[in-house]
Amino acid sequence: MADVVFATGLIREYPGHKAVNSIDFVVKSGECFGILGPNGAGKSTTLKMVIGLTALDGGGLELFGQPMYPEHPTISQRIGVVPQEDNLDPDLSVVENLLVYGRYFAIPNHELKLKIAELLVFAQLEERQDAMARELSGGMLRRLVIARSLIGNPDLVVLDEPTTGLDPQARHMIWQRLRTLREKGVTLLLTTHYMEEAAQLCDRLMVMNHGKILDQGSPAELISRHVEPEVVEVRGNGGSSEIEEYSNLPGRVEHVGDTMFFYSDDAHTILDYFRDRHDLTCLMRPANLEDVFLKLTGRELRD
Ligand SMILES: Nc1ncnc2c1ncn2[C@@H]1O[C@H](COP(=O)(O)OP(=O)(O)OP(=O)(O)O)[C@@H](O)[C@H]1O
Ligand SMILES: [Mg+2]
Repeated sequence: MADVVFATGLIREYPGHKAVNSIDFVVKSGECFGILGPNGAGKSTTLKMVIGLTALDGGGLELFGQPMYPEHPTISQRIGVVPQEDNLDPDLSVVENLLVYGRYFAIPNHELKLKIAELLVFAQLEERQDAMARELSGGMLRRLVIARSLIGNPDLVVLDEPTTGLDPQARHMIWQRLRTLREKGVTLLLTTHYMEEAAQLCDRLMVMNHGKILDQGSPAELISRHVEPEVVEVRGNGGSSEIEEYSNLPGRVEHVGDTMFFYSDDAHTILDYFRDRHDLTCLMRPANLEDVFLKLTGRELRD
């Protein structure tokens, strides 16, 4: 089966810099592919190129095995879009927002009504179907935008930060729904700042920074490639720099504020070393995607 997205050398330039600077990636049919990266890394710009909202300044893009440019009219009909900012009409009801969007797909009226009824159940919005969009909570708005993206029965759904700002209940509900879509064979391409979301949902990921791809692979591959398997966090040393003292401990140490992070394949030796330091709090955990993210993109603030 053809790759759903086949991107080579994608470039997008803005005055003074390249927001996307020659990236290659492939999204395979039926997978969930995630893009991670700090603020301004170029994630949304990449998604906008894939959905045809932002022109390419270089490179090539094929969707479903067909070149995206000049745009093939059937391609965009096969893509559902969840933008980073909700762009619902606040003065239309939940159902009206879905109806208006559904008209772009030239779906016969009776079919559209059935589809909307199904999507209201999917998004758990049946009881709020007549509420104005402006009256909805953040979680409901996001669920409505996701429901809206599914009106045309897309083969690819592109989601820019689907759960940013949502409470854990809403986030878990959306993860569940996205997994259901994936089980039905829908391909998902998403960005997220939540490493747990990436770990839970994504088959493969790429990490971007300054418009470039730093690495890509499955969550487990990225973790094993970039960080030691175990992490010991030692907290409460008052910010004093004691790293030199620890140079004989196995692994790598990073000092951030009042915390030392020991990345190692021998966490027990580190825990033993601190056993009598009752002034410190020690926590051992497996390495995760957040460790990979921070190692690859650094700890400095963006923006
Ligand atoms: N229309 C535009 N005009 C000028 N610069 C832009 C435009 N859109 C994006 N940029 C710049 O391109 C870079 C990448 O932006 P983009 O929105 O793709 O980042 P992002 O990875 O999605 O960040 P975030 O996590 O904050 O959403 C940023 O430096 C941004 O300021
Ligand atoms: Mg963005």
